[in-house]
Amino acid sequence: MDDWDTATRLVHGGTTRSPFGETSEAMFLTQGFVYDSAEEAAARFAGEAEGYIYSRYANPTVSMFEERIAALEGAEGAIGTASGMAAVTLALMASVQAGDHVVAARALFGGCRYVVEKLLPRFGVESTLVDGTDMAAWEAAIRPNTKVFFTESPTNPTLSLVDLAALSALRNRTAPDAVVIVDNVFATPLYQRPLALGADLVVYSATKHIDGQGRCLGGVVLGNAQWLKDNAEPLLRQTGPSLSPFNAWVMLKSLETLPLRVRAQSETAAQVADALASHPLVERVMYPGRDDHPQADLARAQMSGFGTLVALSVAGGRPAAFRVANALRLVGISNNLGDAKSLITHPATTTHRNVPPEERDAMGIDEGLLRLSVGLEAPRDLIADLTQALDFASRPAASVAPVGDPAA
Ligand SMILES: Cc1ncc(COP(=O)(O)O)c(C=O)c1O
Repeated sequence: MDDWDTATRLVHGGTTRSPFGETSEAMFLTQGFVYDSAEEAAARFAGEAEGYIYSRYANPTVSMFEERIAALEGAEGAIGTASGMAAVTLALMASVQAGDHVVAARALFGGCRYVVEKLLPRFGVESTLVDGTDMAAWEAAIRPNTKVFFTESPTNPTLSLVDLAALSALRNRTAPDAVVIVDNVFATPLYQRPLALGADLVVYSATKHIDGQGRCLGGVVLGNAQWLKDNAEPLLRQTGPSLSPFNAWVMLKSLETLPLRVRAQSETAAQVADALASHPLVERVMYPGRDDHPQADLARAQMSGFGTLVALSVAGGRPAAFRVANALRLVGISNNLGDAKSLITHPATTTHRNVPPEERDAMGIDEGLLRLSVGLEAPRDLIADLTQALDFASRPAASVAPVGDPAA
């Protein structure tokens, strides 16, 4: 398997056949397992015999998912979790104890900010948020008790980048005991390999591109197998953020088509970004693959593709952004991303609503900002829909009736 290409690993990696020899991997929808004898049960509990015990600890379908995604990521070990937030929380809780300190990039998904800023301090873990694009800010935040560096890249929703190799090098130089954790959701496992860039743990919301069709929640933490066994597995077993076998099966099968889907969606995203940039209502387009992205060189250095998300800022602030979103016919209004269906979000009033306005400004989340998750529709149809919505929002508001009104 070591010399298999990515596509092959995603179809065959981790497959364990039952005695029936099924071609499609089996879904082991079971809570527990029976033992051949009481001695066998005792041996498994004592860790002296291999075998499953209880699906909160491990489950054969979940193990297949974990092995397959570990093979993709080039990770030694993986732990599937019930959601992306369960993965982030597990990774952070496994890395710290009271008295420790976490440095995180300010531009985090709202749930991640809650864990870093509100939850960890309740248990005596302090945190500092920095501008993740500024390596000097990361360095200035380091304390003797810093145990975690945590970031996304590209960030949600403005698609700015954090230099992952530089962050790992900074950790090596200044806080060698600390753990670098990267939330790699926006880049996807296809286009960015944080472990190869020096990070210790990678986390995903598998809910996004890994499922890719908007069905199941899931997450995964990837990294060194022994570290996960010693630090994360006891938390998983005793606190129970475990991935359901049903959801694991959906994710396992979805991994088989991940490269096809993400490649097509990313190619469309690049075309959509270019089309949006030429519309007069659009003040700014943010896409890591465009030459006008402020960190285009870094994008090319640490990513092998530029992802399925595009951010745009329209002139006219919130009213204009709402008019664009409301006028879309094909693209759905949703806070979710990574779906086969294209979705648009107004972060300032939804996903980042709880971030104070001055913080939002610092993160570049203005009232005209929209985040577009590009799906599997034909590029032509998406561009046509976005263009008609932008055209509609460009007209004077008073003179135009809402979409759907027969007078329009
Ligand atoms: C970057 C990022 N991290 C983590 C999460 C949380 O994932 P989940 O919704 O699966 O808990 C999300 C969800 O939107 C996200 O966008």
